[in-house]
Amino acid sequence: MVLKKLAITTCILLLTLFVKAQTDVALTPPMGWNSWNLFEEEVSDKLIREIADAIVSSGMAHAGYQYIVLDDYWVGGRNANNELFPDPVRFPQGIKTLADYVHSKGLKLGIYSDAASLTCGGVTGSYNFEEQDAKTFAKWGIDYLKYDYCNAPDDMVTAFTRYKKMGDALKKTERPIVYSICEWGQRQPWLWAKAAGGHLWRTTWDIRDTWVSDKYDNGHNGIMNTVDKQKGLEKFAGPGGWNDPDLLVTGLFGKGKSSSLKGRYSGCSLTEYRSQFILWCMLASPLMVNLDVRTMDTAVATILRNKELIAIDQDPLGKQAALIGDYNGCQVFKKELSGDRYALCILNRRDTAGAFSFALNDLKIFGQWSARQVLTNQQLGAVKILSGKLAAHDCAVFVLVAK
Ligand code: GLA
Repeated sequence: MVLKKLAITTCILLLTLFVKAQTDVALTPPMGWNSWNLFEEEVSDKLIREIADAIVSSGMAHAGYQYIVLDDYWVGGRNANNELFPDPVRFPQGIKTLADYVHSKGLKLGIYSDAASLTCGGVTGSYNFEEQDAKTFAKWGIDYLKYDYCNAPDDMVTAFTRYKKMGDALKKTERPIVYSICEWGQRQPWLWAKAAGGHLWRTTWDIRDTWVSDKYDNGHNGIMNTVDKQKGLEKFAGPGGWNDPDLLVTGLFGKGKSSSLKGRYSGCSLTEYRSQFILWCMLASPLMVNLDVRTMDTAVATILRNKELIAIDQDPLGKQAALIGDYNGCQVFKKELSGDRYALCILNRRDTAGAFSFALNDLKIFGQWSARQVLTNQQLGAVKILSGKLAAHDCAVFVLVAK
């Protein structure tokens, strides 16, 4: 009898631990590095090891960047047992050894596949091999899967079914793997991605290295286009499930093949890159950098390692900012933070510098507040009005604390 009770208790305990392990990932938006825009098909064991080293030595790991995500083109094919294997020339030692190396640095390894027979780059995808591939990923020690949707049917039901199949397969492995759904926001994934087991879901087409474009639906998706597409999605974000407005082009300066559309875009200004970073933090977005961290310059590193901005992104409450006002191109975003605090971001979308002045009451923020201006490092004390000047495309960020 006692033994039976003990066995039941142990079972419940194990089950609780398992469920906890499954839900404990992505409680805040995942942070890391992704190979796509800058390296595309030039991914290799050597590159990933060097990036892992640089993420640590540059202080990025310390700032919270944890997942090194190997995007498209790592696959070599399937062996006689239908098991995926990596490109033998670029990954001669296999993925498990690479994952061990990344883990030895205190980091995590992400990988990429597709819900069809072929990925966007035309290498082998996971369709019809979901369970087997999930097992392989778990066996290798993979911590994050980005699952793309090229070459798959258009309709939402098929997308949900295919994503859930992989989501279930990942759960079955019992390894806590972050599941990143990438169907570009075309089938309202914010409505179903969590039910498919997803922890984040792309909301937009691939981001380009430009401030704004007037051709969003033709593959030209600038930073501002992406921000506009997040409007109204804030209610779907929270611990364990995030809207994903794609990668940070911050610091690419037109060098990414895909993000520059093969040289068509020469990149953004440092101010615009900082604004992208700030807005992604406000939107509780995954912070996935794309630049070459081995050669990152100080100005860009200072933006990407800003502790207070990262804390806004990673706030445990997990609220995504909402756009609460647009005053002739001066937009105000509000993000609720833990501990009776708010982050407010004022974005100057105009192409000219300008002043702003907002009474908190007009922004429907009532009561007594003290404020800190994050980028200028100023304690403002008790405030009723937030004011200042902004260069074109620049942002100001205030953290309000209830008094
Ligand atoms: C799609 C995705 C990108 C990237 C490429 C790889 O375009 O949206 O983020 O993964 O495929 O081919």
